[in-house]
Amino acid sequence: MNRVKLAVLISGDGSNLQALIDACDDADYPAQIAVVISNKADARGLKRAQDAGIATHIINHREHDGREGFDRALVDTLQSHHVDLICLAGFMRILTPVFIDAFQGRILNTHPSLLPRHGGEGMYGMHVHAAVIAAGDTVSGCTIHHVITDVDRGAVILQKQVDVHADDNAETLAKRVLAQEHIAYPEAVRIMAQNLLYSDDA
Ligand code: GRF
Repeated sequence: MNRVKLAVLISGDGSNLQALIDACDDADYPAQIAVVISNKADARGLKRAQDAGIATHIINHREHDGREGFDRALVDTLQSHHVDLICLAGFMRILTPVFIDAFQGRILNTHPSLLPRHGGEGMYGMHVHAAVIAAGDTVSGCTIHHVITDVDRGAVILQKQVDVHADDNAETLAKRVLAQEHIAYPEAVRIMAQNLLYSDDA
């Protein structure tokens, strides 16, 4: 079976990367991971990739000339691996048009809220969950969406909801949302990969 070639970009723990690695272990899953890139040398996700026998690269944003220089280095590495689809998974950098225009419509991200609620610049990690609780929301969740230059505003592929409990704090809510991201991301990648394969574009 033809499988779509994925790249996963990380900065940290890589638990969403792990969910994608596990999904790709199934020979019937329509995608496989060709490369994992981290902008941080100490990202735990790098070990997850290496343990799974996946090629890894560290591209440190501090060693490049501004955001665009960094993005060009990312694009070059991704193109050298001939990837079809790019998954941002806890990747803590904002991408410029240099990157986004190179892979139009083929970049996905996971965000730990029900976008458009609690998205945009500065809304990441615990800031998101703290904002949900401060707003008194009774539901939250995660969103897998396309990446465009407007942060967190790309088209939604799918969302999963969780209840916000009266005694939740940002950490307890984050845990419940993360568990849903681990289900949602492989589902969204399956949808995208099937579309790419059917449109014979992969
Ligand atoms: C996820 O909650 C993701 O939405 C956010 O950062 C977290 C990454 O977790 N951007 P991990 O590195 O995949 O474990």
